[in-house]
Amino acid sequence: MQQERKGRVLLSTTGFEPDRWIDLLSAERDVVTEPAPGGDPSIDYAVVWHHPRGLLAGLPNLKAIFSIGAGVDHIMSDPDLPDVPVVRVVADNLSQFMTEYVAWRVLDHHRQGVAYRSQQARSVWDERPQAPAGEVAVGIMGFGALGQATAAALLALGYRVRGWSRTGREMDGVETFAGEARLGDFLSGTDILVVLLPHTPATEGIVDYDLLRRLRRDNAIGGAVLINAGRGALQVEDDILRALDDGTLKEASLDVFREEPLPAQSRFWSHPRAFVTPHAAAASDAVFLVPQMLAQMSAYDRGEPLWNLVDRDAGY
Ligand SMILES: NC(=O)c1ccc[n+]([C@@H]2O[C@H](COP(=O)([O-])OP(=O)(O)OC[C@H]3O[C@@H](n4cnc5c(N)ncnc54)[C@H](OP(=O)(O)O)[C@@H]3O)[C@@H](O)[C@H]2O)c1
Repeated sequence: MQQERKGRVLLSTTGFEPDRWIDLLSAERDVVTEPAPGGDPSIDYAVVWHHPRGLLAGLPNLKAIFSIGAGVDHIMSDPDLPDVPVVRVVADNLSQFMTEYVAWRVLDHHRQGVAYRSQQARSVWDERPQAPAGEVAVGIMGFGALGQATAAALLALGYRVRGWSRTGREMDGVETFAGEARLGDFLSGTDILVVLLPHTPATEGIVDYDLLRRLRRDNAIGGAVLINAGRGALQVEDDILRALDDGTLKEASLDVFREEPLPAQSRFWSHPRAFVTPHAAAASDAVFLVPQMLAQMSAYDRGEPLWNLVDRDAGY
């Protein structure tokens, strides 16, 4: 009996080498990196990371779009996005990476990494007073898949954990806050702010001076700290520098920036209390993510529902 044709996959990426993705997707599907001109009817699914704007609009048989990352701002910002389901990444492997990054940065700020590295550079042996984790409140802004995974690890380390979301997600052991109306209460009890929001029209530039000013500065770690591993577009970078310079912020760890790679002239590179990583907190790994994508495609072909779908109205 002849096997039913499995539709092709269009893999469209910028900014990284897609060979591994092509190899793994090819286990079950024909993969192309460019559609045939004039509306390619052979393509059923698109797997994308920063695809060229308008590329997906002309594909008459496109059934769904898969994001190579947890964030889908790179898809939703396409003005010609076709009206098909958009699937994002939710994966243990990604949550694990993000948890490691956030725990690393929280511990480093709490255990005075900046001060001790400076002492070491000057050969200074000086034990500093140390607050226990139980006196430090970590507020996670964006309490979804990554925020909640991170919260579980921080709770295990003994921190006080708070979470802020749009609709109000609950978690045992975490004080949770929902929406604009509770943002002030969330911030005023937060010593270390961890930003894990998606970039949407509602969150654009949300981390500004006014927000940073509302964090708790009179605290067990001697000031307020910002950690942003969400998206660069969430932050107003001149405001963060101003806050670092005038003491509104004690320290910051930034994994994401408005312009990436971060330009050589950015003051963040040399700021003594800023810690910079190159959007490296939680990279999408094809080995873990492709099997999930292929399984979803086969399920959808059989008429079953997709999962981890983006809410097009909310934008994430
Ligand atoms: N740096 C990296 O390497 C890296 C890697 C992966 C992901 N990321 C970033 O991490 C983000 C979060 O990923 P995720 O998988 O955790 O996403 P998610 O599961 O969709 O969670 C997003 C959270 O943000 C909340 N939120 C969204 N809009 C909001 C608003 N206007 N006000 C208040 N809360 C709002 C959501 O609230 P509800 O719970 O009420 O829906 C939810 O709690 C991604 O979008 C991406 O930008 C970065």
